Amino acid sequence: MARITPEALRSQRWFGRESMRTFNHRSRMAQLGYAQEDYRDKPVIAILNTWSEINPCHSHFKARAEEVKRGVWQAGGFPLEMPAMSIAEPFQKPSPLLYRNLLAMEVEELLRSHPVDGAVLMGGCDKTTPGLVMGATSMGLPFLYMPAGPMLRGNFNGQTLGSGSDMFKHWAEVRAGTLPLEQWEGVLSGIARSPGHCMTMGTASTMTSAAEALGLTLPGAASIPAPDSRHALMAAASGRRIVEMVWEDLRPAAVLTADAFDNAVTAVLALGGSTNALVHLIAMARRAGVPLDLERFDAIARATPLIANVRPAGRYLMEDFYYAGGLPAMLNRLRDRLALDAPTVNGKTLGENIADARVFDDDVILPLERALVPEGSLAVLRGNLAPDGAVIKPAAAEPQLRRHTGRAVVFENYAELQARIDDPDLEVDATSVLVLKNAGPLGGPGMPEWGQLPIPKKLLQQGVRDMVRISDCRMSGTSFGACVLHVAPEAYVGGPLALVASGDVIELDVPARRLHLHVDDAELARRRAAWRAPPPRYERGFGALYAQHVLQADAGCDFDILVRPGATAEPEIY
Ligand code: FES
Repeated sequence: MARITPEALRSQRWFGRESMRTFNHRSRMAQLGYAQEDYRDKPVIAILNTWSEINPCHSHFKARAEEVKRGVWQAGGFPLEMPAMSIAEPFQKPSPLLYRNLLAMEVEELLRSHPVDGAVLMGGCDKTTPGLVMGATSMGLPFLYMPAGPMLRGNFNGQTLGSGSDMFKHWAEVRAGTLPLEQWEGVLSGIARSPGHCMTMGTASTMTSAAEALGLTLPGAASIPAPDSRHALMAAASGRRIVEMVWEDLRPAAVLTADAFDNAVTAVLALGGSTNALVHLIAMARRAGVPLDLERFDAIARATPLIANVRPAGRYLMEDFYYAGGLPAMLNRLRDRLALDAPTVNGKTLGENIADARVFDDDVILPLERALVPEGSLAVLRGNLAPDGAVIKPAAAEPQLRRHTGRAVVFENYAELQARIDDPDLEVDATSVLVLKNAGPLGGPGMPEWGQLPIPKKLLQQGVRDMVRISDCRMSGTSFGACVLHVAPEAYVGGPLALVASGDVIELDVPARRLHLHVDDAELARRRAAWRAPPPRYERGFGALYAQHVLQADAGCDFDILVRPGATAEPEIY
């Protein structure tokens, strides 16, 4: 393999030939306590650490960064840890997706503006994976992704608990009056009991697994539980490998091909992954110049069995998945559906990386003939209600709801939904279709995860546990139900969803991939003429920048200025 010389290192522009400016850089490195032999002629590796005291999923990252550094030193590189925005899913409001592109911008500019030759990206909590990868892809330096790893299984009163899923399930029982509040409080202390990201197949596990299937991590990295000692070993190995990647000049463009994205989509579908993956993978692909769209997800879904028996689609959790062989073993089961010659960051192909991976528990990683869902675990819908697409996880819905026609019960926004959903006088029954407007990329803003609209209390008490629900927002990967999500264009910009009124008949037909509003065109035209755009939500600041540039869900919610073609010059150094 060809290797670059020390003179070709990008960091030489800061530390190389003698000048007043390089003198200043070297004197400041001395101020930091580094002798010139620490970094001279060595790859400078940025360790982008999304640790934060408010992010429980990354609470082990201080220790892990030290382990990555150890690997970088061992391999003859020079590590520099740099903090990057953490995006703590549980805490960041109004929606963490609002800030994904800000993290991506920060990552790109951190790498561009500093003397960096390569990077290890440390993330895991939902939006951190796409944000880090999008920014580093746009910068184009060699990088490797180090996933946080899932937390341990939840446990309370001898019961196994899964992040998100069990919260939603138990809260529905509290609202139905079948679970006492004291027990609900007990669930709180047992549902998240170690460092690491959510351990169901939520967005975090979905996206870290997607990163591995893309070839951006060391093999097996995404499945290792955060507290497992093998996670620390993986961190150090990531540090060693990135140094070699710099010498090999192995850049993201060589890894992030159309084949790699097809592999990632296949992995996500076989895992029963979060619908958030559509938004993120489309955004990541477009940063790499790969024109991934919703139809590609639907096409791959029709040929991909769901074989990871992990909640919310299945029974187990990520810890079980790891002990059963983890992602490499699952991918090996799917090898006939993968582009095996796709290159990866360890210098081998995906096929080489998974060739010897074995499944140790057939009940957790199912044989293809025993798939939880033989095909179509995700479906892309079109129709006059969603001209630019919408998405549903049919497997997460009660079977009779996959073909359903009912009358709309409309909520103009989430505040109205919260105020009215449990009103005993709400005109709703089990056949109704709940519709939430103004919760999309701009309306939410940031497409909050409200898509699993709550079942009205009076229906819960009648035993109803699923209904057709339609919105322009997202849904947590740990959620379930007949929820039609990501309706595009969103209501806030005047998409057809904005025109739906209570009592309208809506038809959902998943096998036909159809979402239709049974209101004639003349009436829709009349409603459109009467529709008024809401006033801008932000007058200044990042919110205003976001509102000006964000794209709709079917285009990945990236900023138009970040995804458009064009080169960004290296900084001048005077
Ligand atoms: Fe961080 Fe779920 S809260 S991954």
